[in-house]
Amino acid sequence: MRRRAMARLAVAARAFSASASGAGAGGVSMVQGASRGIGLEFVRQLLRRSGEGRVVATCRAPGSAAELQKLKEEHAPGRLTVLPLDVTDENTIEAAAASITETHGSLDLLINSTGILSIPNVIQPVTKTVSVEFGRKDNIACILLHPGTVDTDLSRPFQRNVPKDKLFTREFSVQKLLSIIDNVKKSDNGKFFAWDGQEIPW
Ligand SMILES: NC(=O)c1ccc[n+]([C@@H]2O[C@H](COP(=O)([O-])OP(=O)(O)OC[C@H]3O[C@@H](n4cnc5c(N)ncnc54)[C@H](OP(=O)(O)O)[C@@H]3O)[C@@H](O)[C@H]2O)c1
Repeated sequence: MRRRAMARLAVAARAFSASASGAGAGGVSMVQGASRGIGLEFVRQLLRRSGEGRVVATCRAPGSAAELQKLKEEHAPGRLTVLPLDVTDENTIEAAAASITETHGSLDLLINSTGILSIPNVIQPVTKTVSVEFGRKDNIACILLHPGTVDTDLSRPFQRNVPKDKLFTREFSVQKLLSIIDNVKKSDNGKFFAWDGQEIPW
């Protein structure tokens, strides 16, 4: 149980709004846990997708997130916003939500890639509750994604036991995960998918 819960990447919630895809041209995407690892790669790939999509990237200490600050400088003003957000601190969540509402109105895509929500016995009920709530009243799908074993700071201590061809680059894993997000349907709400698109029963 612990291993299964730890393996889940996190939540991706996609709104089926006016834009064809929040992850594509012109939409607004938010990535939580964006200072490094898989989250940072999501930010990179989302920015690269079109010259118009906007990305809100969050982590606990944006001032120390050198890679995010560099990305911000490399892109046109307004394309990347970096905000402080600690998923264990409600005040920072509320402040980020208020800032996003003011600047962007709403989000088309939310990706949570923080380690914290992988805590066993937390992510499952949280995701179930969120997906049920979304399913009831909003045109939003909330899914869980498993990235495979990906070369990041988090996995480094365990990489010795992983065969070379099973250790994915961040680029490869995020490419796969974005293609799942692009094709997600409303009826996928509450489902769990592996990096290769296979549904994982849970
Ligand atoms: N890498 C893998 O092989 C693998 C496999 C299966 C599942 N996963 C899951 O994928 C997710 C991302 O993993 P990763 O390998 O990219 O990890 P990582 O390289 O350690 O990055 C984690 C990110 O989460 C942020 N973060 C940590 N605590 C936070 C908090 N309380 N509030 C807000 N942000 C916080 C960190 O930013 P700051 O410290 O700067 O705030 C960092 O940007 C995790 O949920 C992990 O369990 C990873």
